[in-house]
Amino acid sequence: MDKKFYITTPLYYVNASPHIGHSYTTIAADTLARYFRGLIGVENVWLLTGTDEHGQKIQRAADAEGLAPQDFADKVVVQFKGLWEKLNISYDDFIRTTEIRHTETVQRVLEILYKKELIYPAKYEGWYCIPCETFWTETQLTGQLCPDCKRPVDKISETNYFFKLSEYQAWLIDYINNNPDFIMPESRREEVLSFLKLNRLTDLCISRPKERLSWGIPLPFSPDHVTYVWFDALINYISAVGSFDSKDRYQSRWWPADLHLIGKDILRQHAIYWPIMLRALDIEPPKRIFAHGWWLIGTDKMSKSRGNVVSPAEMVDRFGIDAYRYFLLRDVPFGLDGNFSEEGIIKRFNSDLANDLGNLLYRTLTMIEKYYKGTIPPDKSANKNIQADAIREKLNDLDNRIKSAIAAGPGRNFSAALESIWELINMANKHIEDTKPWNLAKENKSEELKSFILLLVEVIRGTAKNIYPFMPKTAESIMAQIGRDEINKGKPLFPRIDTSKTDT
Ligand code: MSP
Repeated sequence: MDKKFYITTPLYYVNASPHIGHSYTTIAADTLARYFRGLIGVENVWLLTGTDEHGQKIQRAADAEGLAPQDFADKVVVQFKGLWEKLNISYDDFIRTTEIRHTETVQRVLEILYKKELIYPAKYEGWYCIPCETFWTETQLTGQLCPDCKRPVDKISETNYFFKLSEYQAWLIDYINNNPDFIMPESRREEVLSFLKLNRLTDLCISRPKERLSWGIPLPFSPDHVTYVWFDALINYISAVGSFDSKDRYQSRWWPADLHLIGKDILRQHAIYWPIMLRALDIEPPKRIFAHGWWLIGTDKMSKSRGNVVSPAEMVDRFGIDAYRYFLLRDVPFGLDGNFSEEGIIKRFNSDLANDLGNLLYRTLTMIEKYYKGTIPPDKSANKNIQADAIREKLNDLDNRIKSAIAAGPGRNFSAALESIWELINMANKHIEDTKPWNLAKENKSEELKSFILLLVEVIRGTAKNIYPFMPKTAESIMAQIGRDEINKGKPLFPRIDTSKTDT
């Protein structure tokens, strides 16, 4: 394994408040960053997130509130940062596309590509979808509407600058074929490959005339144009962690990114535009792009107009940070779509957290309190029976199981990792029921009781260590409750939610 791990989230648009979709990618990235810090050291991991602040979407949202776009962005960015704090996101850097370190790098990229004649001006005539900020040709439209969002499009005729995307199509197909783990999951790689095989790439329009949109980074060679928001935003992944030297060579301790985590909605920009932009700049592509699925509300997409946008802060206030993190990472295998519902969270909360994890901890603490006056017995003699051996084996195997689920190889299966932790928890709970420790106590089988308790302590410590990346606060609480020598019983971590009350 490489001695560094540079992971990124998308840069979220600041046109509206963050919702559960944004929090999903960020929580997944945070979990991986925490996991890798444990594996290769804090100093070798870099988690980058941030905000995408230019473009028409933001301009419009700012106009609607009567604010200058920068003031508007300054206001919304506070919400994103506040939410990441609330969700315990351990980001190393937060980049805003309006920061000088970014705008200067974007202009430098534009200059380099212009010098190389990979950017050229041309007259553009066609259709434009404002919400998607995408140009369409007549034949691409579906019934005169945007083929993506099905909204009306505007006719446009103007001079713009184009990036020679088309020159790199064959290279990209080869690259993806030769690097089968580059785009994950596999279904997404196939999606990109079949798109590339079925469509001839057209050059990418990377400018907008200032008279139509002024909220963007000016092109250094044509101040009457600003940079297309996607071309601007993708560059954040390099502008945040390095710079170009005088010979136009990009230098960075972190690049190439080890993982760009994105949602499936922005796969094309990341898997087609971005690698080609980097290739044109003689920069290595990222090692991997992983596109996860979407959270739907029932079967619907979340949107302002449908009025079904779920606020992560509200979920956290109701269920707690870690129950929320757990639900998102556990309920759906990473890569697939999921259905978000409060009932779904409550179900997981009551069964996995209150019943399984919470009970194991609380029963063990209660026994230590009752049988040993709150002091963890020091004896290390091992409990020798088949069930205990199986538990120990499971515990020892956990590291490997989690590594292969989320870190080794191309897969990022948080759900499977958590499942293997819960298998251990459930084995330990069953062990308690089968052993009936209260009988051991009654029959004065003190050695057996002691080794039984010590095994449970071992399982709980192992659980805390392994759930840390997913549920950092819970792991810390468990370690505080089960102290080194003494317990500190406290209250149950996940008191059952009474559904007869919450249903009203
Ligand atoms: N600004 C661009 C990304 C530029 S990256 C250089 C953008 N921003 S966004 O605010 O629309 O965020 C998109 C990302 O938010 C998705 O790729 C995904 O990571 C996350 N999600 C948004 N809605 C989502 C769901 N309903 N479900 C899961 N994640 C989704 O696109």
